Amino acid sequence: MLDNKGFDLWADGYDESVNLSEQDNDYPFAGYKDVLNTIYNKIHSKNRAKILDIGFGTGVLTKKLYDDGYKIWGIDFSQKMIDIAREKMSKAKLLQHDFTNELPEEIEDQKFDFVISTYALHHLNDSEKIEFLNKLLKLLNDKGMIIIGDISFETRQMHDKCKEDCGEGNWDDEEFYFVYEELKNSFNKIEYEQISHCAGVLTIADCKNNSSEDASARIDKRNILDDEVFTYKLSKDKKIFISWHGKQVTTLSGKKSEEFLKKMENSSFHEMQLIMAKATGNFKRGNEKGRGN
Ligand SMILES: C[S@@+](CC[C@H](N)C(=O)[O-])C[C@H]1O[C@@H](n2cnc3c(N)ncnc32)[C@H](O)[C@@H]1O
Repeated sequence: MLDNKGFDLWADGYDESVNLSEQDNDYPFAGYKDVLNTIYNKIHSKNRAKILDIGFGTGVLTKKLYDDGYKIWGIDFSQKMIDIAREKMSKAKLLQHDFTNELPEEIEDQKFDFVISTYALHHLNDSEKIEFLNKLLKLLNDKGMIIIGDISFETRQMHDKCKEDCGEGNWDDEEFYFVYEELKNSFNKIEYEQISHCAGVLTIADCKNNSSEDASARIDKRNILDDEVFTYKLSKDKKIFISWHGKQVTTLSGKKSEEFLKKMENSSFHEMQLIMAKATGNFKRGNEKGRGN
C-alpha cells in the first residue's frame, strides 16, 4: 500500500496513468470520469455548497467545483498532490493530513453540505471505513451527504469476478474495496450506483444523527433558509446592507460589519442564511412568514 511518499512520486504522472486505465476500461480506473461526473451532478443540485474532499489528489473533481464557485476544503497526506491541487485552487483550504489519524481540529469545527472522496478510502479496511464514515457524518449540515466514488461492487460475487478477470498479479490485495451489500446495514440512509465493472458511487446521509446535533437545523425547522431569503451588499465604506426578500432590513457598520464578514467567510449557503437571519433579528420574530409561504 502506498504511503504519502509513494503518492508524492506518483503525483506528476497520476492524471495520465488514470486516463490510460480509464480509456482501456480496465481495473482499477474503468469508469473514472463517469464516477466523477456522477458526483459532480449530485452536488450541482445545490447552489453554493461547502464541500470537504478526502484525498483530493491532483484535484480533478474539486477544481471543477472550485471553478463553479463552491467552497472547497480538503485533506490529503501527499505534499506533492497538495502542491499540484493548490496551483489550480489558490483559495481552497487544503490541509496536509493523514485520514487514518483523528481529523484536524480545523475540520472538526466546520459543517459541510457534502463530504466527498474519490479513490482514496479503499486504504481503510471495512471496520475502519465504518468508523471513519460515522465521524464524517457528524460534519454534515442538515440534508448534507457523503458521496464516495471508488473501486466498488454491489455484491461480493461481483468483487470476486472482477478479481478473477484481472488475473494474477494485476489485482491489488492490499486494498479494501467497498462491497455495498456488506456495508448497507451499517447506515440509516445509504444508496449505491454501479458505474463500471469495478467502480461505483455510494451516497450516505444519516439524517437521524445530524438533525439532533445541527443547531441551524433546530432553528430553521421549516427549512425556510434553504431558499435565498436573505442577501447582503458591502459598501465602499465597509457597511453591510442586509435585505430580506430584496427589501433592505438591517445595516451593520464598524466592528459588527467586520465580525459579520468573518463569520460569512467559508460558511455554507445555509449557514450564511442563518447568520443573516440572526443579524437582522427578523427570523426570530417570525417575520419569515410574512410572504405568505
Ligand atoms: C488514487 S488518489 C485519488 C485522487 C483523487 N481523489 C482522484 O479521484 O483522482 C488517492 C489520494 O488519496 C490520498 N491518500 C491516500 N491515503 C491517504 C491517507 N491515509 N490520508 C490522506 N490522504 C490519503 C493520496 O495522497 C492521493 O492523493
